[in-house]
Amino acid sequence: MSALSFEPPRGMRDFYPEDMAWRDRVFSAFREAGDLFGFERYDSCPVESYELLARKAGEEVGEQIYHFLDKSDRHLALRAEMTPTLARMVAQRQKELRFPLKWTAIAQCFRYERSTKGRKREHFQWNMDIIGEESVLAEVEVVGAAVWALERMGLRRGDFKVRVSSRRFLGELLERSGIDASRHAQVFLALDKRGKMPDSEIAAMLRDGGLTEEETAKAFEIMETKDFSASPELSEFFALASSAGFADALVFDISVIRGLSYYTGIVFECFDTAGEYRAIFGGGRYDNLLTSIGGEPTCAVGLGFGDVVVTELLKSRLGADAAGGAPRGTAVGFMTAAERPAAIALASSLRSRGERVDLALKPQKPKKFFSRAAETRAAKAVFIGPDDTAAGKARVKDLATRGEEEIELQ
Ligand code: HAM
Repeated sequence: MSALSFEPPRGMRDFYPEDMAWRDRVFSAFREAGDLFGFERYDSCPVESYELLARKAGEEVGEQIYHFLDKSDRHLALRAEMTPTLARMVAQRQKELRFPLKWTAIAQCFRYERSTKGRKREHFQWNMDIIGEESVLAEVEVVGAAVWALERMGLRRGDFKVRVSSRRFLGELLERSGIDASRHAQVFLALDKRGKMPDSEIAAMLRDGGLTEEETAKAFEIMETKDFSASPELSEFFALASSAGFADALVFDISVIRGLSYYTGIVFECFDTAGEYRAIFGGGRYDNLLTSIGGEPTCAVGLGFGDVVVTELLKSRLGADAAGGAPRGTAVGFMTAAERPAAIALASSLRSRGERVDLALKPQKPKKFFSRAAETRAAKAVFIGPDDTAAGKARVKDLATRGEEEIELQ
């Protein structure tokens, strides 16, 4: 048998402690934002029935699902996103739940995509959804929470922009050009590919979707729209975001359509201003998803915010080592086995006061102890030698200021 590779399967990720420090920083901002904006946490099983997740051909996510037959021939799938699962959970308890729901989750999602910068085959996705609210303030709240989280992580307003549009508005513009609503789903899917494939291929997709040459030209013309004042929902969205204090993080962009077919109204996607990365987060209004899986009609708004792109962006803006935060806790070490009981007793007493202690596991030379304490980013260090136990006292060294403080040994 050949040796096993030490690499994880392609597109999957391991989290070594330095990666975990970034993940903690990102997740903390997600959780704090959820709390601050008054959302309740939920979670679900990561495996779903394939039927719930699979959608119409043409949608990328539908084609990227990891699916399998279990030992009883059930056709199952790993969740590629949280939204169908959320719809299922809401539908199951629709009679008992009190709407509007404001629910948040951090869910590991799996997509068999080409692994590129910012896209993996497995990622953690923060979801913020408001179910059962028609007011555009729902959109404003979820986007506001995501903007807050980005700043909490350490990015500045100028580092990112949320591009906002509305499928309803785009639909109205298409309709006014004689492209009727029955063809919009196809048109949206084609136009969403702009920038990702040549316009000639998109034109071919539009013609395949039943558009005439003239309608195709009109569809491209509509994509140059810069004025959204004819859309009441977009006007209200921008006005309310201004009251909330983050309108400067937004920009109207008709080309934001989103690849998922369930969106019905406002849609948005956040990108880094330098244009180096793929989307940081995306979402929108999806008023028909519950009915499409057999639930009662309920309007909904939400977003998905992955951990991959934002972590890469944070590393590039703040430095790859910046995740760990300030040094913390106390390292406790000892010279010989004779000082070990005193070191253990000191560690226990510090821990009982809630202090984080990294206790050395064996006797060490002071030089080695202090260099490890610096490497592990301890804030303070206490090294106990025979003289200290004899005196019944040791010195706590502040590793930043080099100041010392005496402490009693037991
Ligand atoms: P999505 O645009 O497919 O939307 O994904 C949302 C975010 O998840 C992306 O902007 C990106 O941050 C992250 N993401 C997606 N795929 C990958 C990947 N392969 N690797 C790394 N990150 C990824 C949705 O999933 C919708 N369900 C969001 C939503 C929630 N809409 C309403 N509620």
